[in-house]
Amino acid sequence: MSITCVVGVQWGDEGKGKIVDWLAERSDVVVRFQGGGNAGHTVVARGRKYVLHLIPSGILHPGRLNVIGNGVVLDPEQLLAEVDGLRGRGIRVGRNLLVSDRAHLVMPWHKLLDRLCEEGQGKSKIGTTNRGIGPCYADKMSRIGIRVGDLLDPSLFRERVARVLSEKNRILRCLYGHPPLRAAAIIRQYLAWGRRIRPFVADTVDLLNAAVSRGRRVLFEGAQGTLLDIDFGTYPFVTSSNSDACGIAAGSGVPASRVQRVLGVVKAYVTRVGSGPFPTELLGPEGERLRERGGEYGATTGRPRRCGWFDVVAARHAVTINGIDAIAVTKLDVLDDLAEIPVCVAYRVRGRRVTAFPADVKSLAEAKPVLVSHPGWRTPVGGARRYGDLPPAARRYLAALARSLDVRLGMVSVGKDREETIVMDGWK
Ligand code: GDP
Ligand code: IMO
Ligand code: MG
Repeated sequence: MSITCVVGVQWGDEGKGKIVDWLAERSDVVVRFQGGGNAGHTVVARGRKYVLHLIPSGILHPGRLNVIGNGVVLDPEQLLAEVDGLRGRGIRVGRNLLVSDRAHLVMPWHKLLDRLCEEGQGKSKIGTTNRGIGPCYADKMSRIGIRVGDLLDPSLFRERVARVLSEKNRILRCLYGHPPLRAAAIIRQYLAWGRRIRPFVADTVDLLNAAVSRGRRVLFEGAQGTLLDIDFGTYPFVTSSNSDACGIAAGSGVPASRVQRVLGVVKAYVTRVGSGPFPTELLGPEGERLRERGGEYGATTGRPRRCGWFDVVAARHAVTINGIDAIAVTKLDVLDDLAEIPVCVAYRVRGRRVTAFPADVKSLAEAKPVLVSHPGWRTPVGGARRYGDLPPAARRYLAALARSLDVRLGMVSVGKDREETIVMDGWK
């Protein structure tokens, strides 16, 4: 199978970075197609930890081409910091990284407006990462965005910034009483970054389609997760892109019909950062225990992640939306010492049993999970390298998850490190 997509099934942070890193060794090209610096994908290789925000998680494997597609919103300062950070640790970043000329630039006003808008929302704030993601995508759709390609044409770039900034400064003053941003300083800074980014910039659409046609193994790396998708997630508590397989065609220029296999990454439980409904959330000591054992603190913002039990209703919704063939279950080791592991198989909403994921957040906020308990295994699984090495109760838990979603079990992760991975026979 040469065209594979890896997507998050829950609210992000499922362990996509680790799974993409593993698959990247068996791929030629790794592509990010949506999101931006809001993502935080962790890879632990030979005990060394790398957190990637914009650069695809294939970068640690020499000889792979890494592509930031047109659907990504790119903060040039963050990209260059990431490039420098990787080079400083001995990772080669050069012709193995390409950035689409069509990707939109995150500008200083996007980050500022993200923060000011959130501050003004009080209790109903979304809890964004403050990376300017929402305002940048909004400008893209309003047709006032500035793209990576524009950076390469200084006079066009100057003209665009001047035009957009005059409107943004009026918004900043009238709505927020904020002093104006200065066009000259922004233009100077961005053009300097542009000179450093220029060697990476390409028309990635033709290049990716040519790679697909030549039978190259292409891996699409989703960011965030299906429940944060702008159309199919828990709107309005979502991110501002199609953060699942639906985003591939629009965010890379590779037609959806070319994708041959979709791997959904699920944590063996569920986490969420930021606001919004979370039916299986554990607010007491059980949630605290999952957070501590799982190290559930944001890879981008360091915020504590909210934790809860595995949610079959939400995951089935994600399987449908993405056309998931197989799942990779991560963080199984975090459940090692539990006597019982509850799983949510349905919701009760205003007295009714519901198995379809509700579209409205009010119903979701009122949903009470119907839980079924599975026996725990109470033994460490971290040393397992084959499915047969896992204790029978752990195998039964995994099989129950796959069965409830009507998908195959493709991979199991039993620890942070690259090596702590089980790949099922027949799924490679
Ligand atoms: P992503 O955004 O989906 O790539 O996930 P993050 O990197 O934000 O969060 C996943 C966290 O879990 C990271 O700290 C990983 O190192 C860690 N992790 C991934 N798989 C496993 C696993 O199987 N067991 C444990 N204990 N940690 C894991
Ligand atoms: P990865 O790729 C988890 C969440 C934010 C907030 C909402 C909107 O590491 O899984 P945004 O800054 O995108 O406008 O915030 O989305 N969020 C994530 N949560 N993992 C992520 O990425 C996330 N990216 C955004 O916390 O609730
Ligand atoms: Mg993350």
